[in-house]
Amino acid sequence: MLLNVINLKKYFPVEKSFIEKLITKTKSFVHAVDDISFSIRKKEIFGLVGESGCGKSTTGRLCIGLIEPTDGKIFFDGCEISSLAKRELKKLRKKIQMIFQDPTASLNPKMRIGEAISRPLKIQGNYSKQEIKVEVLQALDTVALTPPENFYHRYPYELSGGQRQRAVIARSLVLKPEFVVADEPIAMIDVSVRAQIMDLIENLRKGRQMTFLLITHDLASARYLCDRIAIMYAGKIVEIGFKNELFTNPQHPYTKALLSAVPVPDPKHKIDRIIIGGEVPSLINPPKGCRFNPRCPYAETVCQTVEPILDKVGDEHYVACIPKPFYKK
Ligand SMILES: Nc1ncnc2c1ncn2[C@@H]1O[C@H](COP(=O)(O)OP(=O)(O)OP(=O)(O)O)[C@@H](O)[C@H]1O
Ligand SMILES: [Mg+2]
Repeated sequence: MLLNVINLKKYFPVEKSFIEKLITKTKSFVHAVDDISFSIRKKEIFGLVGESGCGKSTTGRLCIGLIEPTDGKIFFDGCEISSLAKRELKKLRKKIQMIFQDPTASLNPKMRIGEAISRPLKIQGNYSKQEIKVEVLQALDTVALTPPENFYHRYPYELSGGQRQRAVIARSLVLKPEFVVADEPIAMIDVSVRAQIMDLIENLRKGRQMTFLLITHDLASARYLCDRIAIMYAGKIVEIGFKNELFTNPQHPYTKALLSAVPVPDPKHKIDRIIIGGEVPSLINPPKGCRFNPRCPYAETVCQTVEPILDKVGDEHYVACIPKPFYKK
């Protein structure tokens, strides 16, 4: 395994007003990532899917060592990320990169594209001006911002949304990393460019033997690109499996509900639709027992008190649900 995530937690402290501080001394936390474990193989595209606010980006940031976990461990190629000193983390940056969620926010509007893409090389040091230019032009070419010389001197506002997204991807590739966390790399762009970006990711995996953690809320693109998918709900992973298994034999009511929302091209093709009501729970006071229980049409009394753990139900297929209403032997 290239990446091993073990019992990972990230709790963010909630800022209180002066009055609130006087009324109560207890500290509150946003339980953004709450005890999740998964592994990613070399050359795998591993999907992390879930609703807004369920902790996907936080997981991604933890995986590249950008923020420190509250608890748990992350190993990259056998080396524990959270224990690394700054200097070692800088070395690791050559191998691990992240494509950030919002391409507009992650490019400095006052910095030319060439300059922005060259930043990771400059931070690493050891590259001459000439080498930097060559690498940046090559990265631009890889993401099909061609001719690269044309884009090198442009400012972000002179690029379309899709081109900006590709510039952000170019920046993540310029150090030739082994592993990339791609946080919603296609969410902000239109359908025609989406296919290009998805093909680019697939080609990088094949050509450069790269590994990806693909964060998305879009199951259709996860199905197209990923080998295995983890479904996240309110800071927890509720199901993990190979994509075909997950799409044809989902076990968790939440996975089933997410799949019901994906349009099916053939209207005769019948699927049992599960429409979930209610709101995404607060991560400050998450529901006891199974976090999905207040919205789950199959919840039993036990689900209100006992927290389910990931249980093996098939070949590399795990589900965290006590009643398992869809379980077929
Ligand atoms: N730095 C932070 N400080 C405090 N709370 C944070 C911080 N970063 C994230 N959170 C909270 O953690 C929770 C998970 O956020 P995260 O960005 O990981 O969700 P997400 O699944 O990526 O959502 P989206 O699909 O909208 O991008 C949210 O409730 C968010 O408000
Ligand atoms: Mg996010």
